[in-house]
Amino acid sequence: MPIEVDLDNRIFHLCSRNASYVMTVTREGYLAHLYWGKRLTASSSLLRVLAPISRPFSPTSEHNSLWSLDLLPQEYPGFGHGDMRAPAYQVLLSDGTTVVDPRYRGYRIMAGKPALSALPHIRASSSEDAESLEMELEDVYSRLHIILSYTVLNKLDVVVRSVKFVNHSANPMRLLRALSVTVDFPEQPWEIISLPGAWGRERWVQRISLGQGMVSQESRRGTSSHQANPFWAMVNPGTTEESGKVFAFNLVYSGNFLAFSDLDQYGQVRSGMGINPFDFSWHLEPEETFQTPEAVLVYSDQGLDHMSRTFHDLYREHLYQGPWKQRDRPILINNWEATYFSFTEEKLLDIALTASGLGIELFVLDDGWFGNRNNDRQALGDYDVNRDKLPHGLGALAEKVNQQGLDFGLWVEPEMVSPDSELYRRHPDWCLHVSGRSSSWGRNQLVLDLSRLDVQNWIIETLSKVFRRANISYVKWDMNRSLTETGSSALPRERQQETAHRYVLGLYHILDELTHLFPHVLFEGCSGGGGRFDPGILYYMPQIWTSDTTDAAERAKIQYGTSLVYPPVAMTAHVSQIPNHQVGRITPLAARHWIAMSANFGYELDLADLTSEEQIRVANYVRFYKSTLRKLVQWGEFSRLQDPFNTNGVSWMFSDREQNEMVVVYLCLKTESNPNRTWIKLRHLDSRSRYRVRGCTLKPEEEGAWEAIAGDELMNVGLGVWPRQDYFTQSWHLVREKGGEGGGF
Ligand code: DGJ
Repeated sequence: MPIEVDLDNRIFHLCSRNASYVMTVTREGYLAHLYWGKRLTASSSLLRVLAPISRPFSPTSEHNSLWSLDLLPQEYPGFGHGDMRAPAYQVLLSDGTTVVDPRYRGYRIMAGKPALSALPHIRASSSEDAESLEMELEDVYSRLHIILSYTVLNKLDVVVRSVKFVNHSANPMRLLRALSVTVDFPEQPWEIISLPGAWGRERWVQRISLGQGMVSQESRRGTSSHQANPFWAMVNPGTTEESGKVFAFNLVYSGNFLAFSDLDQYGQVRSGMGINPFDFSWHLEPEETFQTPEAVLVYSDQGLDHMSRTFHDLYREHLYQGPWKQRDRPILINNWEATYFSFTEEKLLDIALTASGLGIELFVLDDGWFGNRNNDRQALGDYDVNRDKLPHGLGALAEKVNQQGLDFGLWVEPEMVSPDSELYRRHPDWCLHVSGRSSSWGRNQLVLDLSRLDVQNWIIETLSKVFRRANISYVKWDMNRSLTETGSSALPRERQQETAHRYVLGLYHILDELTHLFPHVLFEGCSGGGGRFDPGILYYMPQIWTSDTTDAAERAKIQYGTSLVYPPVAMTAHVSQIPNHQVGRITPLAARHWIAMSANFGYELDLADLTSEEQIRVANYVRFYKSTLRKLVQWGEFSRLQDPFNTNGVSWMFSDREQNEMVVVYLCLKTESNPNRTWIKLRHLDSRSRYRVRGCTLKPEEEGAWEAIAGDELMNVGLGVWPRQDYFTQSWHLVREKGGEGGGF
């Protein structure tokens, strides 16, 4: 069973195929953390890790001068009662104090995994070898109960954690900090990998050594943000893609978050993740509860490659829902960079017609189709079609697009309101604001107060009408600014600091309703590109616009970093115009295609501007993606082969689950004069099989012959490439020879 309980020693062992997570209840009633790592038998001898050591300046128990909470590895530590390290939670009691001392009350084991009612969550049934454990703690003095939830997924080496607070006292109390997880590690050294960034430069890989003190990533912007991502990995120095121990955390949440590691004076490390305590508090009336988001914990002793594969499998299998969990994602054409706000029905139909001739499957109408939205200063909130641009309406446009053999998709930005809009003039109090103070603008717009039920209902009704107005099969859900003046006119003063979290809960409620009302619609998340790329959004919208940067070289880094946690099927990528609109760079059509085809593939340019020779090449790429690459990208396995942050190129590989067919992609970022050949070493092949290998130029006249290469040679010698110019690409198609292991040609 995934959860073993040794009642004599009060040891709780969460075991998956290769990993163990172990805790115990101490004699004093504290929930102590014993171990997380490679699978163990977890017998009582593990209690040795708690043996006390005398330490000056670590507060001790009044009964035992050797016993100190400051030295005890704990499952969910508080502050103020002897542990001097960063706490997992803090509560302000009605008497004005913040010291609580919860002790163990009992446990409960459940088959499968319970759902969370208002938050996105990992799903697992008992048949999927998942089991869940609840550990209940109580502070007798304040009658605060804390319920720690754990689910272990046996096949994936994943533990999912969350926490529920219950106020069983007769008085209100206020949560000041309520993280989803902390884990104490007994030793060092560590390196920390995180994914910070900026608009247009999201999720770059950052790796630093952990020294004494606190390192963290956080968002205070109301969204998970371009600048930080709720991912945090502790790795042993020297960890590579293929080897080394990794302890990774990812928060299933789309708002303000904190991720940290704190190395204390003795070399003990506490890492944690959850809602950012900064500018957060939650008022709990008697018998009220507060549920934290879930944190996903992944263990790998086979480096970063295995960590990523675990996250990818987890999210595709246990986070995605609805029909799009299984369906192939369409190749799309989006009009944004082709027209921006300035288009006519005729122009859109021209773009769609050319796209249809090239094999593209979905036409997406981006910003500018409603109200007087001719620029970004007006009309957000007024979702009546702009008859100057679309005189026959949305329904007629969709019908004509459908007649050309394409599905129809639409852009919306429902969380926002333009000060110059009918909606704002009618409901000025519907935006986030602090009464009597001026509001900051972002992209000339204000943020609707999604913590309010009336605003949530308005969005659901308004969008339902829009989605019924035309045959819409795809929606791009945009969100283009950070939250400021985060107060709500609908909340009492003691609940103002709840606004940011209530905003996220409101968003989840809206998305839950709309995805159930329109299950056939493929929702794509977007926040000025990848400003809200997290598992909370992926729960409702299975693909996300990875970045507003469409340049192939910049995108290579962004997609590489994103792939650490999120599967290629979660990312969207488009071939766009040159010079590139974000960085002015000119890259070849091939480079733009291979990077865009490494995700959910699409175009964002006026295809009619391409020469007829280029259009023939586009049709070839589209054909290859449909026939070969799409299934590998969306449903297969992914390996990073060359790191663009530390070398002058990038390479990755897509493979089916049986390792019978692969595509390897290489892009040179910057060549040098008289370069050496680069050898790209593949992974996860069968060393005794032989593979037919062919470079894919996708130009039939240049296509080379198939060559037979042994699996062990491909993994140890590799594929050779001689990059003689910047943005040079080379890709290979590999097919395992029939005849099984060691089979010949
Ligand atoms: C920001 C998005 O990231 C872009 O792709 C585009 O949809 C614009 N918004 C439209 O305003």
